[in-house]
Amino acid sequence: MLQVEQLKKSFDGFQAISDANLLVPKGEVVAVIGPNGAGKSTLFNLITGHLQADSGHIRFQGKEITSMAPYKICHRGMARSFQLINIFSSLTVFENVQASVIAKHRLDQNFFRPAKKLFIEETLEILDSFELFDFKDRSCSALSYGDQKVLEIAIALGSKPELLLLDEPTAGMSSEETRRIVNLIKHLSREKGLTILLTEHDMELVFDVAQKIMVLHQGKTIAQGLPQDIRNDKSVQNAYLGETG
Ligand SMILES: Nc1ncnc2c1ncn2[C@@H]1O[C@H](COP(=O)(O)OP(=O)(O)OP(=O)(O)O)[C@@H](O)[C@H]1O
Ligand SMILES: [Mg+2]
Repeated sequence: MLQVEQLKKSFDGFQAISDANLLVPKGEVVAVIGPNGAGKSTLFNLITGHLQADSGHIRFQGKEITSMAPYKICHRGMARSFQLINIFSSLTVFENVQASVIAKHRLDQNFFRPAKKLFIEETLEILDSFELFDFKDRSCSALSYGDQKVLEIAIALGSKPELLLLDEPTAGMSSEETRRIVNLIKHLSREKGLTILLTEHDMELVFDVAQKIMVLHQGKTIAQGLPQDIRNDKSVQNAYLGETG
């Protein structure tokens, strides 16, 4: 589904990503872990086209997408949520998700334009599956932090992606809210067949949901593989897992 090779990115001489490599197989949940400042968000911004790489390759569904504009990458079937909440807080919950549904249909440029009814139906279906239906007419700013994070994922799903990127989806959440996100990730993966790439500091969550883990340390991929192999990897223990106990 996604292949990242020898990716590099520097900011004013600071090498934030020095050698990132990643393979995301179709249908799997893959986690990128690493200490604060390891370059996880930068890597996500490079993959989604929000930042341009200095060198290296990113391939999505077999096609080169390195340096492609974010909207084009999104149209090819990739969507994301941000580490910091990124929603239109002045719009209602319904309007936020509908904007994403409409944008997807517009970009599809169907000869027969889908009716407004279809947008509404698709939006309501997404809200229902994310347990946000009851809040649909509320302003987003009135939602709890946890509901806002769930809404952000619902908005990402509006573009009907094949690959979903989640940058710290449970950052700042209570354990109950975290459980909800874990269940959501499992549901999207198992029931909807979505491929998911996420970053997380919560190791319990990572080892619960991920089928594969990539470890980023100072901008470099130091390991990637099955969770049990990562747990037993000496270089990973020294660089990262040791620090977090
Ligand atoms: N736009 C930017 N300009 C300059 N430096 C940047 C920029 N974005 C990120 N950096 C630096 O690049 C490094 C990697 O940052 P990044 O946000 O990717 O780390 P991270 O792994 O996501 O960390 P965290 O776990 O705290 O979210 C950091 O040292 C950061 O200060
Ligand atoms: Mg980050």
